[in-house]
Amino acid sequence: MEQDFARILIPRDRIQARVAEMAEAITKSYGDEAREIVIVAILSGSVIFLADLIRHLPFKMKLGLMTVSRYRGAATSGGETLLKSAVDLPLENRHVLLIDDILDSGGTLRAVCEDLRKQRPADLKLAVLLRKPSKAPKDIIPDFVGFDIEDVFVVGYGLDFNSQYRNWPDIGVLRPELYA
Ligand code: XMP
Repeated sequence: MEQDFARILIPRDRIQARVAEMAEAITKSYGDEAREIVIVAILSGSVIFLADLIRHLPFKMKLGLMTVSRYRGAATSGGETLLKSAVDLPLENRHVLLIDDILDSGGTLRAVCEDLRKQRPADLKLAVLLRKPSKAPKDIIPDFVGFDIEDVFVVGYGLDFNSQYRNWPDIGVLRPELYA
């Protein structure tokens, strides 16, 4: 697998150190409210980040997983429909922490946040491992960000290309011919 990478953007030890820092910031931000937290994670890109992050969080939590898939069809005249699964946990009056792998153009997180807010959580915070500042909309401001990265398609540490490379422990860029 290593030979498929053109370069490593964020090596595994930096990721691990940053995830631990994020967990500390998250823990501090909730204080005594930590009793009521529901973590909602968007599959599948966030799975590795989620698994590492929540093992650093020293409070009880409930964990809800959701899937978001894109559907581009004739019926949407070139537009994109996001099909979102429901979170199988009550969110009303709960402190909800939404976890995702990357804030890129922001379409996914905007739609998911809108859905979650309809369920009237006590508050909704957002943690993303990666953000592309050159593309992320200015009105979506995560409470916790791991790394700001340049606008390149990255894989590894949960992020995939053609459903592969999620298990690679570093975050990097594939050789260009592989993206073709
Ligand atoms: P948006 O553009 O809605 O991103 O913020 C939605 C989802 O698209 C995936 N995504 C990526 N996946 N490398 C990946 O492997 C990338 O550089 C990348 N950019 C976006 C990701 O699942 C994100 O949640």
